Amino acid sequence: MSEVNYSEVSEFVFLGLSTSRPMQRFLLSFSTVFYVTIILGNLLVVFTVIFDSHLHSPMYFLLANLSFMDLCLSTLTVPKMVSDLYSGQNTISFLGCVIQIFVLHVLGGCEMVLLTAMALDRYVAICKPLHYLTIMSPRMCILLLVSAWVIGLIHSVTQLAFVVHLPFCGPNEIDSFYCDLPRFIKLGCMDTYRLEFIITANSGFISMGTFFLLIVSYISILITVWKRSSGGLSKALSTLSAHISVVFLFFGPCIFVYVWPFPTVPVDKFLAILDFLITPILNPAIYTLRNKDMKMAMRRLSSWLLSLMKFS
Ligand SMILES: *[C@@H]1O[C@H](CO)[C@@H](O)[C@H](O)[C@H]1NC(C)=O
Repeated sequence: MSEVNYSEVSEFVFLGLSTSRPMQRFLLSFSTVFYVTIILGNLLVVFTVIFDSHLHSPMYFLLANLSFMDLCLSTLTVPKMVSDLYSGQNTISFLGCVIQIFVLHVLGGCEMVLLTAMALDRYVAICKPLHYLTIMSPRMCILLLVSAWVIGLIHSVTQLAFVVHLPFCGPNEIDSFYCDLPRFIKLGCMDTYRLEFIITANSGFISMGTFFLLIVSYISILITVWKRSSGGLSKALSTLSAHISVVFLFFGPCIFVYVWPFPTVPVDKFLAILDFLITPILNPAIYTLRNKDMKMAMRRLSSWLLSLMKFS
């Protein structure tokens, strides 16, 4: 047996988004404010949909689930980033890093399926309105949700199965504020080229595939509306533009993280901010605040809460 000078890596160090103090202070306040808004906004959406029986329809259930997922997605990375910025201690344990990657891929895969389900919902509602209630039945909703979680899990397990035996001995610095798979793999002390290729192909393929599927389905919805009547197009556009912008914002960074070919220019770590801090804020904002039913429901909820306070 040969004696190798081999020290196992037990923790990783995040290099963060910036080394300049003023920039760090800015990021600290920016992400704290955004994170609190994300929590409050998305909780509001979830509670409004659950408690208001007027909103018990597939579209709102899917929306509430999307809000819940967004909440989890930012909670996975942002509090850690905020505490790192605050304390200046940027370490994460090996296990913590693996858990972060695992949950990130479960949630990411799940959210992609959910966005697809929302596109399907809109397709049926706009193109086959007479069959809406039979196609998007409560059973169908549950089925879509369960498959979203199952697909997320399968995707994440297959990703991690490839890297679970990877040895780590060398540098342990991650040039980002969270653990992502491409950077994690690069730290493994063996030739990881093939592994990187597999992971990139897997995640990149899934995100690009879903992205194009969604864009094509939204375009086909718009074409259907346009053929039927030219007047309906502007109304459909205003509803669907919210969906389409969320699709772009969510998938843009994902595609960049896995398919960006120049690792020395770390654009992707800044783009990741979009997925953890911007999209989760935009979802409640653009789906909800522009939506009449949702606004009415919130008014009902607040007057109900007020009357509750009066009686107690
Ligand atoms: C997700 O959707 C299901 C039904 O489709 C609903 O019962 C559940 O309350 C939703 N979950 C959340 C967190 O809104």
